[in-house]
Amino acid sequence: MFLPRRLVAATIKNHKLSLIYVPERDSFFFSKRFPRRLLKAVIIPFRKVLHMRAMEEKIRSEGTVLPGGILKVGSFLNQQIDSVFLKEIGEEISDLFADEHPTKLLTIESSGIAIAAAAGMIMDIPVVFAKKHKTSNVDGEIYSAEIHSFTHGNDYQAVVSRDYLLPDDRVLLIDDFLASGNALEGLVKIVSMAGAEVVGAAVAIEKKFQGGGDKLRSRGIRVEPLACIDSMTDSDITFCHL
Ligand code: G4P
Repeated sequence: MFLPRRLVAATIKNHKLSLIYVPERDSFFFSKRFPRRLLKAVIIPFRKVLHMRAMEEKIRSEGTVLPGGILKVGSFLNQQIDSVFLKEIGEEISDLFADEHPTKLLTIESSGIAIAAAAGMIMDIPVVFAKKHKTSNVDGEIYSAEIHSFTHGNDYQAVVSRDYLLPDDRVLLIDDFLASGNALEGLVKIVSMAGAEVVGAAVAIEKKFQGGGDKLRSRGIRVEPLACIDSMTDSDITFCHL
């Protein structure tokens, strides 16, 4: 079955089909028996583009840029949660990282929790979240890392109980924003204290101009944003395509 480009985006997303692009016809051929090696080379990058576009569209339609390089996404991520879209975010994270076979998702309170929970439900694995202060309900032995928040200009401790990260865990880090990368760096430290392995980091929105994503990538960590922002002004947002 040959289909024009526009139909493909919707079809592949809804039915998780594989496809082969046929340049001479500028169309795609669907196949459920697509060789795995080719699938990785062709389909996964294609789906990655689709994933990014969904988040980009959401940012374009509902996001606003505040002074100081802050993107306000309170209508679907940071205060009100768009539950239907959240489920899609979970599916997208699962699509991107299922191959790494994570055994735990690790995020930090508060806005990362919803995203991680959505992905955890799809991937069928537990979600652990670092608390920003040691509270009475984090008892016993803990792992902790000091994190500097560039956006808020303060320092805080991220704390995880030792009971929830084990040396044989393969940990996928999740967060809503990746800006300077300090929160994720703190989580990387916590995972290494536990003797576990970081298999990657999935973030809803990377602000590439703040450099945190590239710092993590230069250390060999696979970082996948669902939308990546190159630059933003009051009137325009430019997305990067990795
Ligand atoms: P970093 O972790 O990448 O270094 O980022 P930074 O310290 O600068 O970010 C601190 C907090 O600000 C984080 O939330 C982060 O999600 C949020 N943040 C960073 N840039 C933006 C932005 O452009 N828009 C919005 N809406 N948030 C941004 P937090 O303080 O941990 O709060 P929360 O998770 O409880 O919401």
